[in-house]
Amino acid sequence: MRDCRASVVVLYNHVGDDEYEKMKEVDPSTLDFKPEYDIHVSTVEEEYKAVVKALRKENFRARAYNLKEDIRRLHRLLSRNPPDVIFNLVEYFHDDSKLEAQVAGMYELFRVAYTGASPFALNICQRKGLAKQILLANDVPTPRFKILTEPKIQKRHGLHYPLIVKPAREDASAGVTKDSVVYDYAALKKRLDLVFSEFAPPILVEEFIQGRELHVSVLGNDPPVVLPSIEFDFSNLPSDHPHLISYDVKWNPLDESYHQVHTTCPAKLTKRELKNVEKIAQAAYKTLGCRDYARLDLRLGEHSHVYVLEVNPNPDLTESVSFMESAEEAGISFSQTLGRIVEYALERRVPKSEEPESAPAPVTDSGKSVKQ
Ligand SMILES: Nc1ncnc2c1ncn2[C@@H]1O[C@H](COP(=O)(O)OP(=O)(O)O)[C@@H](O)[C@H]1O
Ligand SMILES: [Mg+2]
Repeated sequence: MRDCRASVVVLYNHVGDDEYEKMKEVDPSTLDFKPEYDIHVSTVEEEYKAVVKALRKENFRARAYNLKEDIRRLHRLLSRNPPDVIFNLVEYFHDDSKLEAQVAGMYELFRVAYTGASPFALNICQRKGLAKQILLANDVPTPRFKILTEPKIQKRHGLHYPLIVKPAREDASAGVTKDSVVYDYAALKKRLDLVFSEFAPPILVEEFIQGRELHVSVLGNDPPVVLPSIEFDFSNLPSDHPHLISYDVKWNPLDESYHQVHTTCPAKLTKRELKNVEKIAQAAYKTLGCRDYARLDLRLGEHSHVYVLEVNPNPDLTESVSFMESAEEAGISFSQTLGRIVEYALERRVPKSEEPESAPAPVTDSGKSVKQ
């Protein structure tokens, strides 16, 4: 039976201004296009409050806790007053997404149960090139690619145009713009120079799959369940905008392209396509060690061949974004989805009997412990 009174800390890390807070002051009628969607997107604080509220609705004792870029605050929480479960919404530390995994490592070291992926899986998925190599080695299809550590590539590189150039260690469409897709060698070299000047290596050059894009959410562990997919409709983008989710399409309500891409859920797939998508999504989820929940970005290429573009452990759980839209479509409400994720973490709680009763005796230089 569910431990309804379990305590949950919704943990996040946020300092400084919230861009979406400033956007609230923008009057939509001052834009030089007619926005299709609301330009007033939820702020970070509002998102976390919504998660806490939903968990309380599911009868958990939930509260939010902001790390505020101060690891001592995390140390205090974990050592003095650990909750039954940390709902892990920390994506950055010191403004660096590479430290996301290290923060999760702290929960491990303190043996506090937490939601979502392990530090290992978080690290692998952040290295897009490595993740793709692991997928390929396990027969999970992903577009053909090269990993570059400097802005040099031979003319005969063996990949087929069009190609997309994207940073290998970023996420959330950072570095992906309408100019990321190149159709010849001259444009490829130019784009590489630009991306290398703006982002740390490595950089990926990948075959651009011209086809339908699906976001496929997966929930649970034994077995992971594939939720109804979301399909992106790019047909309203102007002709000079390749069919892709650029940074502006994804995040910038003040850019027209944000309002030109629409989604459908569930994606209209034939039985065969659906079976294939589900099989490949599950294989990718397991291969990269995802846990509790994840979102996979897939493309259907020629002959509906499925390609995994990217695996996102701990994806955005904001109400109305891909993951939650898919869960709703499957008949699982926002609060129920969050409740399930907490339950998966509760199953991993270290039983009290296995925890040391008191702190171990200090150890001397000779390695012998000292009686106090
Ligand atoms: N090989 C590719 N073929 C087609 N589109 C791609 C490809 N790689 C990336 N994209 C487009 O760029 C978007 C962002 O790329 P992705 O690999 O998902 O990185 P992230 O979301 O972490 O920035 C995708 O959602 C897709 O629209
Ligand atoms: Mg993506």
